[in-house]
Amino acid sequence: MISTSSSTSSPSSGVGSFIHSYGSKKFIRPKSDDVLDAVAQARFNEKKWVWIEDDNEGYVRGHVVKEEEDTVEVEYENGGTAIVRVCTIKPMNPPKFDMVDDMAELTHLNEPSVIHNLTVRYKTNRVYTYSGLFLVAVNPYRKLPIYSEEYIQSYKGKRRGEMPPHIYAVADQAYHDMVQDKENQSILITGESGAGKTENTKIVIQYLTAVATTTNKPTTNILQTQILQANPILESFGNAQTIRNNNSSRFGKFIRIEFNNRAQICGANIEWYLLEKSRVHQQTSKERNYHIFYQLLEADEETKKQLLLTDQAQDYNFIKHSNKRIEGVDDAEEYRNLCKSLEIMGLVEKEKIDLFRIVASILHLGNISVTDYRDRADIRDFSVVERVCHLLGISAEDFKKSLLAPRIKAGRDWVTQAKSPTQVVASLDALAKTLYERNFAFLVERVNKAIDGQKSKDKLGFIGVLDIAGFEIFESNSFEQLCINYTNEKLQQFFNQNMFELEQEEYQKEKIAWNYIDFGNDLQPTIDLIEKTNPVGILSCLEEECVAPRGSDGRFLEKLNKFCDKDNPEAKYKSTRFGDGFILRHYAGDVEYSVDGWIEKNKDPLNEDITRLLARSSQKHVALLFEDYLTDDGPSVAPVKSDYTSSFASMLKLKKGSGSFRTVGQRHKQQLLALMNTLHMTHPHFVRCILPNNRKHAGEIQTKLVLDQLRCNGVLEGIRICRKGFPNRLSFDEFRKRYQVLCPYLLDREAFIDGRTACQMLVNQMQLDGDKYQIGTTKVFFKATVLADLEELRDGKLSVCITKFQAYCRGGIARQYQTRFSRQTDAIRVMQRNARIYVSLREWPWWKIYAKLKPLNAAYRVDSKMREKEQKIIVLETQLKEQQASLGEAVMRNQELEGEHQDFKELIIAEQTMLRELEESKEDLLSKFTAAEERVEELEVELKEKTGQYEQAKRVQDEEIDQLHTQVDTSKLVNDRLNGDLERKKEENMQIKDQLKQINDEKEQLQLQLTDLKNENIAALEKNTEHQKLLQEQNTVQKEKITTLETEKSQLAEHISVQEIELYNLKSSLENEKNLKEEKDTKCAMLESELNSSRSALKTEAEQKQDWESKYNDLKADWEELTALVRAESDQAKARMFKFDQVLSGLKFFQK
Ligand SMILES: Nc1ncnc2c1ncn2[C@@H]1O[C@H](COP(=O)(O)OP(=O)(O)OP(=O)(O)O)[C@@H](O)[C@H]1O
Ligand SMILES: [Mg+2]
Repeated sequence: MISTSSSTSSPSSGVGSFIHSYGSKKFIRPKSDDVLDAVAQARFNEKKWVWIEDDNEGYVRGHVVKEEEDTVEVEYENGGTAIVRVCTIKPMNPPKFDMVDDMAELTHLNEPSVIHNLTVRYKTNRVYTYSGLFLVAVNPYRKLPIYSEEYIQSYKGKRRGEMPPHIYAVADQAYHDMVQDKENQSILITGESGAGKTENTKIVIQYLTAVATTTNKPTTNILQTQILQANPILESFGNAQTIRNNNSSRFGKFIRIEFNNRAQICGANIEWYLLEKSRVHQQTSKERNYHIFYQLLEADEETKKQLLLTDQAQDYNFIKHSNKRIEGVDDAEEYRNLCKSLEIMGLVEKEKIDLFRIVASILHLGNISVTDYRDRADIRDFSVVERVCHLLGISAEDFKKSLLAPRIKAGRDWVTQAKSPTQVVASLDALAKTLYERNFAFLVERVNKAIDGQKSKDKLGFIGVLDIAGFEIFESNSFEQLCINYTNEKLQQFFNQNMFELEQEEYQKEKIAWNYIDFGNDLQPTIDLIEKTNPVGILSCLEEECVAPRGSDGRFLEKLNKFCDKDNPEAKYKSTRFGDGFILRHYAGDVEYSVDGWIEKNKDPLNEDITRLLARSSQKHVALLFEDYLTDDGPSVAPVKSDYTSSFASMLKLKKGSGSFRTVGQRHKQQLLALMNTLHMTHPHFVRCILPNNRKHAGEIQTKLVLDQLRCNGVLEGIRICRKGFPNRLSFDEFRKRYQVLCPYLLDREAFIDGRTACQMLVNQMQLDGDKYQIGTTKVFFKATVLADLEELRDGKLSVCITKFQAYCRGGIARQYQTRFSRQTDAIRVMQRNARIYVSLREWPWWKIYAKLKPLNAAYRVDSKMREKEQKIIVLETQLKEQQASLGEAVMRNQELEGEHQDFKELIIAEQTMLRELEESKEDLLSKFTAAEERVEELEVELKEKTGQYEQAKRVQDEEIDQLHTQVDTSKLVNDRLNGDLERKKEENMQIKDQLKQINDEKEQLQLQLTDLKNENIAALEKNTEHQKLLQEQNTVQKEKITTLETEKSQLAEHISVQEIELYNLKSSLENEKNLKEEKDTKCAMLESELNSSRSALKTEAEQKQDWESKYNDLKADWEELTALVRAESDQAKARMFKFDQVLSGLKFFQK
């Protein structure tokens, strides 16, 4: 239960953080800190609140009034004071820790704080709470809407702390760890009867089947349903109503859900422990036998007929004294559900009837009434025996014989031994118990066969869920309690080993100074005391006594006291004062065991004559259940073999003979060792179920009851051990941020100081004891309560700062108010003075005159303004005239330019006609030129023809000359004639040459003519382009001129329109002014008449004033005259007085 979170001091810190939590990352959700929290915190800070031990309530709230050395005076919250011992009060956590998700985060880790947190959470339906490694689940006793499909989905793949604590979170963590680490997982669910173990087991399985079967394969779905349906079957046969729980599991179970490599469920397996057999033949009136007995009586008539059953519980001794019905449970409905589940599990009708056969035969067995005839047992109603034997498939006669006088082996011989009625009843009860247990074992095995996951080859691992009764301390504790408490002691040891292994691993990783403590061995002495064989332990001692010929409970106790009772206050074993038992010190407290009947319970004796008979039963099922007894009597009947034979016997671990499972104790020890071995190969998760009250009421917490359970289920033990280590830790950064405020000037905020040094400096400055903290490589570790003290100091420091800040703020506000107030006072004074002045002036004539003259001032101002405006109008009018004149000039100039523009336009048109004409002549020339060219071409062709003709003629002549030359030789006569011809021909040739020359000359002439024409044409073109250019230039100049003139014109037009608008405005304002002036004039006239009247009034008043002044002057003159007169008279009187005094003094002198 060691706190692995560093959030002891940070439940209200605003941000979520990842904190290493026993090997897995953990996300602490940020908590909202609202105004109510602040108010509660402020209220809490006012007093020193504590929890005070109370006999009735466990702990009550109060605060310390006065502290003395050993005692304190406390005032209870509900009124009243008391002086109590210091050790009976426990510090209270500040309200910000109320409802923390993880109790390991509590600053004060004490019993009342834990119970308080659980209570406040439970009252708001938060039934799940973490306590370090544990998940504490308080039974809500009502249907909470937290198990829906949406909830399953919302917990899927979430980290612990990301969602509120929930059994789904634990299941998901296990699933996730299995997939991630490929390691088997186990979820250990323990708690008192009725605390909710079985319900939570079912919820875990529901979650796993929901998240691990994503495929829609029908086979997977069948398996999933079968696994879910295994529970109702087991509950029918293994659960019963008890005082504490209407559906109490009377056996422990370990359900392994197997997963394949795709993380899907591929099978399951159930192991069971410690079935409560005594319930089969006896129950209290408020309890019931196993559910199946009552369900069977509600079966269909056919089945009942087959099983020879009636439908009245009253007809059967084994159930007739028990409670018959459970409120809200319909046994008939349950029977139908059971049949359905058996069907889903694949049990055929025969198998079902076989299972029921044993149950029915037990009911009939209970009805066998044994009579006492001269100390010899006899059976009164043989028909009952017959019924039993019919169902069990054995001979009734043989059964009766075996029952009343069984045969036993004495050496090599068999002898009969008559039994007393009590012994017969005992052997009937034992037979009923054995039948039921073996039938139950068979049932579990059959279920396992249906949901078997062993066959799957691609197995990833399993998640095992252990649903086993928690620690039990009753008023009278017997052998069953020893077995269950021994189991819980082992499981607690397993938890401690696990927790501290991880814890100390963390210390090692952080390299803090720590001497390894094997906390897991804390519980070893008690475990040794129970299970050790050397020196002899309780179980082995019992074993010895069981095999001893005259073994008895008394001898067993004697032996125990001799071996185990050491005179040592630390010893775990103590004998009781009255010597009927012993006290064993368990982690959950001291338990007093009574050894009465232990030998019998442990031996679990059976009438072997009957079991041998059963082994040879004609009913295969019955024979199978007792097949291990078959060999003892020789193979008189062929053994019945079935599929389950070997596995069933080994699973049952009931095999008799010389094996190690002779007694109940030994069998349980072996089973437990096997379970522990399995658990050691898994990564465990721990769930602790809590029964909130004894009344099955929702929303009610009985503090003492819960405290006892927390103690028994190891939550408080975890807290105790956790105090030995360093339960609280903060990362360097967090520690520095949070507690730097305690030494604000120690660390230079600007300079770099590494985390470790900074923390070391801080703790040195805080003067913490060296053994109260350790500094690791990344975190600072603290012993329990150290952080609470630091928190207190921090709160004090912060409250000083806040008070100072508040004082400063209040001062500022007060000063601001004061300044405003004094300014307001000054302003009021000024206003008052002005008002007084006004009141005194209001009646003063001069003021009245001033008030009346004041408006005239305004009239004068209007007059001068009007004059100004008039002048302005004149100036504007002259400007307007000037601009109109310039506009006229511009218009004239514009007309001139337009004329010029027109001329130029005409010129351009003339030029263009000329250009057209020139172009036409050019075209003529061009046509002539082409005609001449054509002529040249024709002549050339002709020339070519002529040259061809000439050459041909020449060739002909040459040929002829050649002929003639040849002929010359032959005929000189012909020569002369021919010479003449030649001359002629030469002449002709000359003529042709001349003709050719003439043609060439003609051609040259024509070419010359052509070039001339070309030149002429080019010159004409050039002239034309130049002319065009000139025209274009002139045109552009004209156009520019026109545009400038047009812009000028538009500007002038704009200007004129502006002038006109202005003129219009001026005229209208002039008009207005004139109107105003007229108004003013009339006003002026009125004012003048008023002025005249006030002047005349003033004149009259001045006259009056003069009158008054003259009167005043007169009066003044009179006054002055009078004063002069009075003064003269007083002077005269003074002179007379003086004279009179002189006379008086002269007379006095004469008298003397
Ligand atoms: N999570 C829950 N939601 C609603 N009801 C619950 C829950 N857990 C327990 N219960 C109620 O409490 C009763 C007892 O619970 P359950 O049978 O699981 O106790 P148990 O610890 O298995 O007790 P036993 O040791 O006697 O078998 C249930 O029948 C149910 O009515
Ligand atoms: Mg249960």
